[in-house]
Amino acid sequence: MREEWIKYLEQLEENRGWPMIGYIYPVTDEVTTTHLQQQDQNKQTMEQSLISELLQEAWRVAVDFGCGTGANFFLFDGHRQRKSLLVGLDPDCERLEWARQTADYQLMFVQSYTLCGGVEILENIPDKLKADVVLCSQVLGHVSEEQTQRIIKGFHRILTKKGRCGIAIPIIGEAFKENPQAEDWSGKEDFTHLVDMAKSPGDRGFRRQITLEEFNRAADKPETGLLPVRSFLVPEFPNPLEIKLPCELSAPPPTIAHLIKPLFDVEKSTIYSIHKDPGSPIFPIGDLFIQLGKK
Ligand SMILES: C[S@@+](CC[C@H](N)C(=O)[O-])C[C@H]1O[C@@H](n2cnc3c(N)ncnc32)[C@H](O)[C@@H]1O
Repeated sequence: MREEWIKYLEQLEENRGWPMIGYIYPVTDEVTTTHLQQQDQNKQTMEQSLISELLQEAWRVAVDFGCGTGANFFLFDGHRQRKSLLVGLDPDCERLEWARQTADYQLMFVQSYTLCGGVEILENIPDKLKADVVLCSQVLGHVSEEQTQRIIKGFHRILTKKGRCGIAIPIIGEAFKENPQAEDWSGKEDFTHLVDMAKSPGDRGFRRQITLEEFNRAADKPETGLLPVRSFLVPEFPNPLEIKLPCELSAPPPTIAHLIKPLFDVEKSTIYSIHKDPGSPIFPIGDLFIQLGKK
């Protein structure tokens, strides 16, 4: 299976036989890491431990969809599976090039193949090529509704019968509407906004609310420095002052659950981070990891 995958991917790369969308992710990892350190220093460790759990059972082929610069690649190597293949995909070709170098430096056990592209690659993978596990970490919070639907269907199609999938997304609770940055938000739908990377968390204008339609457009063609974010509404967000992380939710946010549930069994939905903007009260805003098994 590994050889067949590589043969297919090599041929794809040579022919450039898929539409390139010319997508450029609007921020660098340095800026997001700086913000993260101000908001929740444990986020990355918690996220990595949930990804490691997803990868614990033996697998032969894994896909890191929207792998960015390859920050999670070392986790795929952690179980020392010499005969396994990691396929990293990202539509931002410059970030993908970083990922390729990360793989060259870091991976000692698994073999890797990186390719610049997005959902169109998933959709064109021949039926006979299957993956045992798909990771999609912090991607769906930055893509349009149309892309999200296609991506989830694409994961289902390329996974083996017992395939597993891990999705990390930003989440929000209704009480965030008390935050001055959410003045016009009803608290009843996903909070779609632009994060101004020139500002710091807690600053006025750090988050600017936009409509879902505006978000869909911005996600397809982001403006440098302005990161479009869709924070998925969790109707029963636990009190962030009392929450103990990791915290299990009974179901994923409704706007993603309706896409997932016909295709996957939800194994768990774990809140693993609460963001604390410096100088501001603690609001229900954070991150969720959803672990899925193919139905
Ligand atoms: C926040 S970064 C996460 C990177 C990596 N998964 C991680 O956890 O470090 C979001 C990534 O999603 C990619 N991305 C944005 N839109 C996408 C799309 N429509 N399809 C696939 N990936 C996309 C971006 O290029 C970027 O690298």
